[in-house]
Parts: sequence; structure tokens; C-alpha cells
Amino acid sequence: MPRRALLNDVNPHLINFYTHLQNGLRITIAMKNERECFYRHRTRFNELIKDGDWRSAEAAQLFYYLNRTGFNGLCRFNQSGEFNVPFGSHKSITYAGNFSQLRPVFQGWVFTSSDIASLPVESDDFIYADPPYDVEFRSYSAGGFSWEDQVRTAEWLAGHRGPVVLSNQATTRIVELYSQLGFSIEYLEGPRRISCTGDRTAAKEVLATKL
Ligand SMILES: C[S@@+](CC[C@H](N)C(=O)[O-])C[C@H]1O[C@@H](n2cnc3c(N)ncnc32)[C@H](O)[C@@H]1O
Repeated sequence: MPRRALLNDVNPHLINFYTHLQNGLRITIAMKNERECFYRHRTRFNELIKDGDWRSAEAAQLFYYLNRTGFNGLCRFNQSGEFNVPFGSHKSITYAGNFSQLRPVFQGWVFTSSDIASLPVESDDFIYADPPYDVEFRSYSAGGFSWEDQVRTAEWLAGHRGPVVLSNQATTRIVELYSQLGFSIEYLEGPRRISCTGDRTAAKEVLATKL
């Protein structure tokens, strides 16, 4: 619970949602775990994106609903920038309608949406980084985050003077990368929260730290 914090993600829709939470978002759209409702809201969300209205409170509400109701909590956009996650298969969903209790918690925090390496950090800032999971043995990259992006992120974090904690999938090359850059390595058994295949078996995760 830091008094001051900068929270960043390159996904502008996620950051728009958090920015509205900071202002005490209340959900007024209908939220049902039903196919018809899901696709109606998905179409509306994509209309807002197309019309340049994606910063609105309505877009933040739709983002929350689509994230809770869509397949596996995925957040994925096609080449044209449209949200294209299909309807999920959740037995039941408890939707929150009023986030006003978060308002005081989020005061003093700044939300930005840019590339990690362009963040205005000060040399004694503490950084927690949770970049996209590395997926070994695949030539393509999930969400456009390539192996080169993993390497430049690791090097940027290694170059920071203050303390850093990094979490990622414990693939051999991630462990090697952070070890070579002088980080201490710890392993965690974390059930994966997101998987394209719906497979939620435990995957080994790594916590790399540098003080
Ligand atoms: C493993 S998720 C972490 C999500 C978040 N920490 C959470 O707990 O919900 C990785 C996140 O990295 C973001 N991301 C991808 N490329 C990025 C970049 N170049 N700079 C900043 N964030 C990026 C993605 O949008 C995604 O939300």
C-alpha cells in the first residue's frame, strides 16, 4: 500500500479502467453471464474504440464486464484493434457494481500507458515488473511481446539503481537471462491465471530480485 505509486501497462483500455476506478466507477450497464449480452457489449465496446470514445466511463464498464465474462479472462485485440475474445464458459460470475471503496486507496497513484522502458523512474524507486510470460519453443510471441522485448526489459531493469522485483514464467532462458544480469532467483508454484488452451495446471514461476 504505497502512498505514492506509478502503475503502468501498455494496454490503454486496462489503464482507462483503472483511471475510472480512481474516480469511483459505478457500473450501470446490464451484466449477465449470457452469450447474447456478451456479444452485444463486445460490439458496443468495439464501436467506442472505432469512434475514439474508448476513454469514456462506458468503455471502462464494458472492459470490466468483458474481462469477467469472456473466455478465460483473456484480453486480446485483432489487427484492426477490435477486442475479439469469445464468450467464456464460467458457471457463475459475481460481478461488482460499485468500486467507490477503491477511490481513497488509489489517491496519490498515477496510472500511465506506455512502454516500460520509457517510464520516468527515479534512481531510488522500487520497481515491481510483471511482463508478459515467456513462452519457450515458440517462434511467435503472445501479445506481440517477443524474446527481444524480454531481453530489453531485463536489461532496463538491471540498469535501474534502486530495488527491483520481477515475476515471469520460469523458462530456462528467463532464469539464465536474469541470473546473468545479477538477479537472485526464487521459484514459486503458481497456478497460471490465463491460458489460451484453458489448461490451468500449475506452472513454475520465477521471482527475480535485485536490491
Ligand atoms: C503478465 S501480464 C501482467 C498483468 C498485471 N500485472 C496483473 O497482475 O494483472 C503482462 C502485462 O504486460 C503488458 N505489456 C506488454 N508489453 C508491454 C510493454 N512494452 N510495456 C509495458 N507493459 C507491457 C500487457 O499489456 C500485460 O497486461
